[in-house]
Amino acid sequence: MLQGKKILLCVSGGIAVYKAAALTSKLSQAGHEVKVIMSRSAMEFVAPLTFQTLSRNDVYFDTFDEKNSKVIAHIDLADWADLILVAPATANIIGKMANGIADNMLTTTLLAATAPVWIAPAMNVHMYDHPAVKKNIQTLHEYGYQFIEPSEGFLACGYVGKGRLEEPEKIVQLISSFFQKEKDASLQGINVLVTAGPTIEKLDPVRYFSNKSTGKMGYAIAEEAVHMGAKVTLVSGPSHLPVPYGVEVIKVETAEEMFQAVTDRYDEQDLVIKSAAVADYRPAEIYGHKVKKQDGPLSVEMERTKDILKELGKRKTNQVLVGFAAETENVAEYAKSKLQAKNLDMIVSNNVNMEGSGFGTDTNRVAFHFKDGSVMELPMLSKKEVAKEILLKAEHLLKE
Ligand code: CTP
Repeated sequence: MLQGKKILLCVSGGIAVYKAAALTSKLSQAGHEVKVIMSRSAMEFVAPLTFQTLSRNDVYFDTFDEKNSKVIAHIDLADWADLILVAPATANIIGKMANGIADNMLTTTLLAATAPVWIAPAMNVHMYDHPAVKKNIQTLHEYGYQFIEPSEGFLACGYVGKGRLEEPEKIVQLISSFFQKEKDASLQGINVLVTAGPTIEKLDPVRYFSNKSTGKMGYAIAEEAVHMGAKVTLVSGPSHLPVPYGVEVIKVETAEEMFQAVTDRYDEQDLVIKSAAVADYRPAEIYGHKVKKQDGPLSVEMERTKDILKELGKRKTNQVLVGFAAETENVAEYAKSKLQAKNLDMIVSNNVNMEGSGFGTDTNRVAFHFKDGSVMELPMLSKKEVAKEILLKAEHLLKE
């Protein structure tokens, strides 16, 4: 549960004011601090004392009733809020807002606001459908205001249709997920490059050497990094997974192609996470024709590919480098030596022989190893959860 957000609830006059009282209570119960401004018409429906009691704060309705001589209330309230919610919003208040009218405490505060403003209309179905209201809503959309559309149902005026104030529980839910998203966007302005999947190294036109990686871990990291607000480039070996929304993908096949794609883009990155399973060897010769079978055994000479991560470690300037160590034995020991050899800030180790861990699974059991020798062991988690943990740690390293 997110706590401590400051919500300014602007209540204008319609029968749905009674729901705004329930909304105040639910917002407070969800841990938010609520302050309320009422229009004069709203006070015809419910007394300010109701909102004062539920919010445990003074209720504002008179621009000239300055409760604190040190501040100007409508500016102070506008600055105070993390989010301003107009609920219920009548056709009249929507019209005033769309036209920049500031003739009472509520509209004056709204005009001074820089915080996000959400509007939850409630009115008769025909009023909501009127071209003037529609035009005003459109104008407010263009100004960047968000709307919580009214729901359909029985209206106090006797009509059945669209015009009911959205239920308080739903509004609280929308607000909480808005703040959660804002919180998650902690990689705003950060360039992240992720590698994923296997590489394939051709022997001839019909055969290649590869490994069991599917790309699930790397794709999950790329997706989570986008959710956290980063600009994400995904350099991917062959994978059947859909490219996550908002990710720029560079498809490669061989270790050499991955080396080029990654090093070409390295300078502009803040964070590089190398979850790809890169081939360490490739056939020394790639045949242009299908290799025919012989009676005896076949030997294929293999040569080393470039170690991409090692090269990134050498060229590192300000980037945070995160590597992976897929092991089947001596996991911690090997991970530690890779961390040092490749000049990494963090390495994610896993035992690919363990059930629920490694290639192709939806879960992973990993440990994080850091330069100072510290180790953080995680329980079995979904790859999405592991991705999130990796990014939260990386974010911490970026700040350091
Ligand atoms: N890696 C890389 N280029 C390679 C091989 C590995 O960039 N040619 C990266 C992987 O993406 C991973 C890390 O190095 O982040 C460790 O990869 P891993 O396969 O576990 O280890 P190797 O360094 O290849 O060592 P070994 O095969 O001896 O375990």
